[in-house]
Amino acid sequence: EKGGYDWFMLKEIHEQPQAIADTLLGRIGTDGRLQLDEMRLSDGELREVDKIIVIACGTSYYAGMVAKYAIEHWTRIPCEVELASEFRYRDPILDHTTLVVSISQSGETMDTLMAIRYAREQRARVLSICNTNGSTIPRESDAVIYTHAGPEIAVASTKGFLSQVVACYLLALYFAQVKGAKYGDEIQLILDELGRTPQAVQQVLDNADQIRKLADRLSSNRSIMFLGRHVGYPVALEGALKLKELAYVHAEGFAAGELKHGPIAVIEDGVPVFVVVPPRARDQLQEKIVSNIQEVRARGARTIALVEEGDDTVVPYSDEVIRLPRVPTLLQPLVATVPLQLFACELATQLGHDVDQPRNLAKSVTVE
Ligand code: M6R
Repeated sequence: EKGGYDWFMLKEIHEQPQAIADTLLGRIGTDGRLQLDEMRLSDGELREVDKIIVIACGTSYYAGMVAKYAIEHWTRIPCEVELASEFRYRDPILDHTTLVVSISQSGETMDTLMAIRYAREQRARVLSICNTNGSTIPRESDAVIYTHAGPEIAVASTKGFLSQVVACYLLALYFAQVKGAKYGDEIQLILDELGRTPQAVQQVLDNADQIRKLADRLSSNRSIMFLGRHVGYPVALEGALKLKELAYVHAEGFAAGELKHGPIAVIEDGVPVFVVVPPRARDQLQEKIVSNIQEVRARGARTIALVEEGDDTVVPYSDEVIRLPRVPTLLQPLVATVPLQLFACELATQLGHDVDQPRNLAKSVTVE
């Protein structure tokens, strides 16, 4: 049932092009307009929304962090992202013009469920992005966008994450469409680009051998760092989480700009540092990340750059270069996360761990 793969996780990583395609399926009409059938919130209700709060846990929370960039950019509605487990304990400001977006693969995560119940008690509207039909969270929500990733069996979320990111983009673009966005052309372009991401992800998967060899070389390291900026920051956090969960290796993700505010002190000889390099189009961001790479390298780090093809800026400072297909900045998480998933899976395999059932973890966390 693992389709010839050693682990469900590996199978699910390889199913990601399909998961993205299925999440997009039927949602873009022939006229290029988005249609979200299970939305259940009228255009009028959506137009009333003046604040969006995304709540989720773990990997789904990182999808939410990515979503914030897209939501604010395309809708111009202020958006916060918060860990579901923290949400209701801080007395958040909510009313009927607040849209709470919950993200949960399983639809059964207790922290997230309790958070949406609280939000509804406070009269906020709740829209859930979920992969499990009929699960508790979508049943208790005002609106749903299902990710159509298919069942995710491995404890580590992979295709769940990519399809959540896609669903969040669909939501942001739909909002923009309803509001009569000033980003009309860009929206069309992004929808076209989204349609091409399954091939882009496949291209990354075709490079799995490079990642396997890299995991082999780094398998004795006990500490691994991940850096990113902008949407590359949640990707860095996700890369670190996967490694902790599966390989039980100390791993941390940082916003690259924060390095000099503390974390750079832990960089010492031989520490591997993965760096998610923003596309060349974002030259300001890129310049900064180039200096971050130089800074950690000068302190002995072994740098592994994830960078779009055709961009050689960071090559002189990189011990290893992982090439990513060229996509718009906001879509980069869809391609940049994949090598990090493969890396964690490979490293855990080499260390002899059970990748699908890591110690101390459950697929859905049904206690608070
Ligand atoms: O089912 P959910 O998306 O609500 O689950 C949230 C987290 O428990 C989950 O993403 C967890 O962090 C995964 N093990 C990550 O791989």
